[in-house]
Amino acid sequence: MILTDVDIMNSTKETGIFAVNQDFKKYEQVNKNQQYHLAENENAEQFDDDYQIKICDMRLFFEGGEEGRKQFAAELGAALEGIGFAILSGHGIDEELYETAEEKVAELFETTTLDERMKYEASRFGSVNQGYFPIKETTIIHPDLVEGWVFCRRAFNLDNKTDYRESDFWSGKGFEPVFREVVQQQEKLILPIMQSILRYLDCEPHFFDKKLTDTNFGFRLNYYPPISAEDSASGAGRMLGHEDVDLFTFLPAQNVDGLQVFNRENGKWIRLNAPRGTIILNTGDYIQRITNDRLPSTTHRVSKPKEKSLFAKPRISIPMAVYLWEDEILEVLPGLETPKYEPISALKFHTNITSKYYGDDYAVNE
Ligand SMILES: [Fe+2]
Repeated sequence: MILTDVDIMNSTKETGIFAVNQDFKKYEQVNKNQQYHLAENENAEQFDDDYQIKICDMRLFFEGGEEGRKQFAAELGAALEGIGFAILSGHGIDEELYETAEEKVAELFETTTLDERMKYEASRFGSVNQGYFPIKETTIIHPDLVEGWVFCRRAFNLDNKTDYRESDFWSGKGFEPVFREVVQQQEKLILPIMQSILRYLDCEPHFFDKKLTDTNFGFRLNYYPPISAEDSASGAGRMLGHEDVDLFTFLPAQNVDGLQVFNRENGKWIRLNAPRGTIILNTGDYIQRITNDRLPSTTHRVSKPKEKSLFAKPRISIPMAVYLWEDEILEVLPGLETPKYEPISALKFHTNITSKYYGDDYAVNE
């Protein structure tokens, strides 16, 4: 089914179920030739059970000296260039912290009322739509069976600002400290990952160190409630197929399966089940743009679990998207062949892509 422009403008929760990504091509700011349905179409899709997403051991980077860093960069770069995803082990973050964080996500969504959550309804600040997203309202183009809550750097008192008020961002006490610990631990991985990507591309490894020190990020709490028989029959998925609009995303391995990665080489979906305690890493649109398409922004989505018995269990995930601040310019890296893209501000780039999810007036074109 191909939607016309009018259909897209009138896109509703219903039409979104049948949409394919190319219906929204006009919003893209990097080349995306892959075609896929936004939601899993159980009878019409193929799965790639052979592709193994690589596990990259960060101890090579942290403990392996110069040789270790070279080896880690080679392994990580090959994984990202190949499929756009890698699994990080040896990252040094305690698995128990992730278990505590999952409990806190469940507490946040299960013990607050919808009215309380709606006081924090998402709105754009800079590039990013921040705050609470009710179920089926993550985007206007697809009725995802997920509630979300996005917290950016300013939601954590990381810079000790005197005008910071926890209650501006958090609906109760005890959430911010746990999630602050998660984002602070993961912040320590930002430079090692970016340096390794740059090294792989034969660029100066420290080229982004300054831009990525105290950079902005979007930390998203996803709460996928148990799937009812009605939801299951509706054709909606847990999260639509999409590419991340960021440099890269850290995604601690989840409690319930469902993550699928699109292999653009063969048009099949890879079910990605990473070992608990590891972190899934994937590259997003910013990286595809600055690497001149060398490292792809790979499509992924969240489907219902394979085992029906897990339908009754909530699924929780806590991805952290790493951004550049809005006034930075995205430019093809020096030394990469014939740039395909013009320099563009991060603000314009980001909001033009994400206006497909939030409406055309979301884009900032100043
Ligand atoms: Fe994503």
